[in-house]
Amino acid sequence: MATIIGAIASSHTPTIGFALDANKQEDPAWKPIFEAYAPVREWIAERQPDVLLMIYNDHITSFFLDHYSAFCLGVDDSYVVADEGGGPRPVPPIGGHAGLSRHVVQSLVTDEFDMSTFRGRPLDHGVFSSLSVLMDHDEGGWPTQIVPLQVGVLQFPIPTALRCWKLGEALRRAIESYPEDINVAIVATGGLSHQVHGERCGFNNVAWDAEFMELMENDPVALTRMTHAEYARLGGMEGAEVIMWLIMRGALSANVRKVHQSYYLPSMTGIATAIYENAARPMSPTEAQRHRDAMGEQLRGADELEGTYPYTLERSAAGWRVNRFLHGLIDPERRARFQSDETCEFAAADLSDEERTLIRTRDWRGLIHHGAIFVLLEKLGVVTGVSNLHIYAAMRGVSLEEFMQTRNQQVTYSVAAPVGA
Ligand code: FE2
Repeated sequence: MATIIGAIASSHTPTIGFALDANKQEDPAWKPIFEAYAPVREWIAERQPDVLLMIYNDHITSFFLDHYSAFCLGVDDSYVVADEGGGPRPVPPIGGHAGLSRHVVQSLVTDEFDMSTFRGRPLDHGVFSSLSVLMDHDEGGWPTQIVPLQVGVLQFPIPTALRCWKLGEALRRAIESYPEDINVAIVATGGLSHQVHGERCGFNNVAWDAEFMELMENDPVALTRMTHAEYARLGGMEGAEVIMWLIMRGALSANVRKVHQSYYLPSMTGIATAIYENAARPMSPTEAQRHRDAMGEQLRGADELEGTYPYTLERSAAGWRVNRFLHGLIDPERRARFQSDETCEFAAADLSDEERTLIRTRDWRGLIHHGAIFVLLEKLGVVTGVSNLHIYAAMRGVSLEEFMQTRNQQVTYSVAAPVGA
């Protein structure tokens, strides 16, 4: 089963990535950053975690305000670095442990954290500034995989400190019940004290940062009682992102062994690192099995329903390319291109031969089996002049006439009337 070997706390300031990319290792202003990360690098190199579960917040790079969520877990098998305005940093993509991601989401939902998920989104400095100084990497990649957990801390209401702590407790159950024998380290990013907006811009509080780190180690529950305003008063409004550290701390044993801590304030944000080793008694196999049984409770028996395919994260991953292509049909320009030259659009979407055939032949049932979600079939239907009822009949494997005989009214329709109809 999976083991949480310990946790790392790390600020995620853009300065860290800048210092690395600009080769500032020996520059007196930047050198303390690299010195602070050296023991963390050594710890990772020695303990060799298979997966880093990275808790971070996106800086309105890949998650815009049009859909803002509290807790969003990456379920992808690879993550690229985001372009934050100056082009992407020269760091390679990192693999994602999609199997662990899916298990964690299922487990957290079972524990009543209604998670959102993401894939196909680049990660900004929230992840990659820390990551790039935590481990050696080159074009060949990275020595570990990650599972990123994005926390919405920028647009209120945001989760409370207590909610973050409770998520950490549930995260521990989620990881420890994963059946594969892998070592996981949890990395919490963010902070420390800083404010980078408004007239209070430039606020820091070194004394609070020291107290915060002391409490994080020895009395984290005290930190769960603080409000966002109290965090902002002591550590700056943006410094309130340190509540993300409580997710990490909640996943560890009550007593931890701190093997490293550093703090440096070069510019706007207190840059801190820490390593906490976990002293938790691992979940017993019986307990883990009981939890996995609970995770399967809601869909148990659904597989016995003939011709029924619950839309799980596994199906979603399998159908990702096709779904993205079909979703693109809501854009009038892409729709027009598809209608005039399907092949060209298939190539642009990098569809496999099998996927092209499924769409070209309007193999509605095959598309469902492949992982397409049914609501996107309706979009392909309306674009190609096929009614919903035709699609339903085809999935059922009968003629339209036969299917219509099972309906009360003999009507056909699409998800939208084609323009001009
Ligand atoms: Fe941040």
